[in-house]
Amino acid sequence: MQCPHFDRGSCGSCALMGVPYAEQVHDLADDVVMQLRPFAPPEVWDAPFVGTESGFRNKAKLAVGGSSREPTFGILDARFRGVDLRDCGLYEPALAEALPLLTEAVAQLGLVPFDVSARSGELKYLIVTASPAGELMVRFVLRSPGQLPRIREGLDLLRAALPGVRVVSVNIQPEHKAVLEGEEEIVLTEEDFLAMRLDDITLRLRPRSFFQTNSVVASGLYRQARDWVGAIDPASVLDLYCGVGGFALNAAMAKGAHQRRVEGVELAPDAVSSARDAAADLGVAAHFRVADASALEDVAADLVVVNPPRRGIGARLCAALESAAPGHIIYSSCKAATLARDLADLPAYRVERSRLFDMFPQTRHHEAMVLLARR
Ligand SMILES: C[S@@+](CC[C@H](N)C(=O)[O-])C[C@H]1O[C@@H](n2cnc3c(N)ncnc32)[C@H](O)[C@@H]1O
Repeated sequence: MQCPHFDRGSCGSCALMGVPYAEQVHDLADDVVMQLRPFAPPEVWDAPFVGTESGFRNKAKLAVGGSSREPTFGILDARFRGVDLRDCGLYEPALAEALPLLTEAVAQLGLVPFDVSARSGELKYLIVTASPAGELMVRFVLRSPGQLPRIREGLDLLRAALPGVRVVSVNIQPEHKAVLEGEEEIVLTEEDFLAMRLDDITLRLRPRSFFQTNSVVASGLYRQARDWVGAIDPASVLDLYCGVGGFALNAAMAKGAHQRRVEGVELAPDAVSSARDAAADLGVAAHFRVADASALEDVAADLVVVNPPRRGIGARLCAALESAAPGHIIYSSCKAATLARDLADLPAYRVERSRLFDMFPQTRHHEAMVLLARR
């Protein structure tokens, strides 16, 4: 893949841009296998799961710069000037097609871009997610609620430009800090979730919940976990850091026991209610609750799935797993270094299978999933 922004030096987000894709996957796999070598010998690795090298991102996080007449949507350079990246080649086709129309409509609303140096203006980011069906969730990150009525009044304009817009919301981030979003989210549309259908399961994504970045590879990841669950056929599954329920619902749908007990645990209340609704839609008996997974003492189940943020699950949850002694653990990780650290804290388990999922082509970010069996 070639990228004019990378070639020009105006965007450095894709560290591997220009490296042939097969070479990227090969090197990434080598690197991840090497980091996990003390725990996962070469023979337990399946071939990496790959999607497409471009057009795969389902979400655009666009920093807004420039002026209200001529806003830019992309990133800010070292001097906080806007660099327009609406034509980034990583976006899924539906997102790539929508962004020019959407941003044109947004420009007509006349919102003043936030100026980082002057600490003035209002519109900080535009965050757009596309579902596999091509529908959209559009989120405005504002410094204050002052411009909210203008966005509310502009809803018809946005819908006219893009009939696929399902959810529009405003997030208020009064502070200027690395965290992109604030705590307050105001949904302006009747619908408050985007239906994310992956294979035979429709997940519900609400504005502040996590969703895997690459829908095609996410689907491969969930299918793999489902195959492993189906082969093991556990009577009970506990999905920790479950988000909107991707692993739990696939476990509930996996081959085997009709009476399988499935429970998901997640910190974000919105994600938990999405997972509950998706389970009800599917008619499966999976239960979800809000809790801090890292601090759970009782993690008893036949099989436990963990899919934590980059920091990993940590020593405390590893100790709880060692003592609860599930027969199997599926650990899906976006950072091999913390996965390796956690595996060292799970001495009662050996890696039975492992696979790399190239969720983030053009970068060194990775997703690796391992199936652990009790020794
Ligand atoms: C990498 S995401 C995985 C989400 C989900 N498994 C999926 O496939 O979409 C990690 C999730 O962990 C949640 N999380 C972060 N810290 C947590 C904690 N201490 N306890 C429970 N959930 C947590 C986040 O809100 C996020 O939804």
